[in-house]
Amino acid sequence: MRFRLLTAHPLQLPLLSSAARGAPPGVDPEAYSWFQSVDSDHSGCISIKELKQALVNSNWSSFNDETCLMMINMFDKTKSGRIDVYGFSALWKFIQQWKNLFQQYDRDRSGSISYTELQQALSQMGYNLSPQFTQLLVSRYCPRSASPAMQLDRFIQVCTQLQVLTEAFREKDTAVQGNIRLSFEDFVTMTASRLL
Ligand SMILES: *[C@@H]1O[C@H](CO)[C@@H](O)[C@H](O)[C@H]1NC(C)=O
Repeated sequence: MRFRLLTAHPLQLPLLSSAARGAPPGVDPEAYSWFQSVDSDHSGCISIKELKQALVNSNWSSFNDETCLMMINMFDKTKSGRIDVYGFSALWKFIQQWKNLFQQYDRDRSGSISYTELQQALSQMGYNLSPQFTQLLVSRYCPRSASPAMQLDRFIQVCTQLQVLTEAFREKDTAVQGNIRLSFEDFVTMTASRLL
């Protein structure tokens, strides 16, 4: 069974209120309902396979493996390769936040982010990056077509990686000059330790 969890019109889960009654303390009841549906083998944990089956872009393609792995790594506090209900609850909020931003930046409501929409999104998020950089993201993360566009999974991946790299840069850019000097060793360490 697949849930169009992340589209503009998510399927209404049946029995939300009764399923939500058993939600552990601190876990959003709606997230708990989703957790139980996504945990298809009822192991109490979500594997990357289960996550991938649950997450669908607005064009009905499954989320790509890289984004699913990145998200599992972010919310898997025990490094087991799977996420429990608390990790899922945090992941659920994380996805909702990105989905809301995605819909906000998808100005023509096409269900995907075009080059122009991405350029505007990055600028509104406070990034001072060139059109060439946006073009690089589009050619790397959008399927080739006459009007390439980014699906939600790639948007989450790209924005999260940008945030992580920005934080790493800021730690070194103590004078807030927008420039840092790095040795090769520092560069590879900074990059390797931040890859999600
Ligand atoms: C949906 O988008 C993905 C990623 O952008 C693309 O690879 C795929 O071909 C598209 N699928 C359909 C059914 O259009």
